[in-house]
Amino acid sequence: MTAKIIDGKAISAQIRAELVDEVKKLQAETGVTPGLAVVLVGEDPASKVYVGQKEKACEELGLVSKKFVLSVDTSEQELLDLVAKLNNDPEVDGILVQLPLPKQIDENKVIAAIDPDKDVDGFHPVNVGRLVIGTEGFKPCTPYGVIHLLKRSNVQLAGAEAVVVGRSNIVGKPVALMLIQESATVTVCHSKTKDLGEVCRRADVLVVATGRPNMVTADMVKDGVVVIDVGVNRLETGKLCGDVDFEAVSQKASAITPVPGGVGPMTIAMLMYNTVNSARRRAGVPALA
Ligand code: GUN
Repeated sequence: MTAKIIDGKAISAQIRAELVDEVKKLQAETGVTPGLAVVLVGEDPASKVYVGQKEKACEELGLVSKKFVLSVDTSEQELLDLVAKLNNDPEVDGILVQLPLPKQIDENKVIAAIDPDKDVDGFHPVNVGRLVIGTEGFKPCTPYGVIHLLKRSNVQLAGAEAVVVGRSNIVGKPVALMLIQESATVTVCHSKTKDLGEVCRRADVLVVATGRPNMVTADMVKDGVVVIDVGVNRLETGKLCGDVDFEAVSQKASAITPVPGGVGPMTIAMLMYNTVNSARRRAGVPALA
């Protein structure tokens, strides 16, 4: 079997195109324009690139974006004061504080200070709790992107054996919770898992988020598996690769995401999606399905 490629770039573009129409409709019907505040502290080059991409996406979709760039020596209190101001700004539906933060600032304290109903990153403990219970709340963008990729590729999740490799707070744990919510039978593996290959071979759906290049090899998957590779690793050659041996695994899988061009492009689309849904709540209309 040669796997179908799950094209994250195309699916992300489709979601963003749908959001353009939804934003116009929301404005016409309620007068509400979704607004996202993006806060960057310091000069981290990767963070600057991510923040730039988020601003550009807002512009494309017709969202209001407010960008706040603070110096690397900003105190924790100054950042908390800005968050409090944004919590109270009626034009701001979503607040995103780009991570990582400089050492003098406690990330958890800043995340906890964001109004949970503006926490479009889905990192606030209240939203983590909502995800555990299965009630409405913001879902973190990268794992939410994984679920959207699977759904838009018509992958059956109810009753499927889903295996998640990796247990991070930003991907592994939340994606496992979302797969449970979709009625999959979910197993979470990590660095202490005894026989990783044996567990992965059970999977109908395999989600890999370990940060280790080529960690999942062809002998570890069964024929027909659907593979979502969340890893982004830069090799010494400068080439990007995922956590899955794409060439070999794609000979056995029925569908697989490439790196780059798989999960990556979905993250910003889901951030926009969360921001639009936050604005819909402000406007008193139901969330997008
Ligand atoms: N840094 C890297 N990824 C993310 C993300 O998804 N959200 C925030 N706030 N910071 C990040």
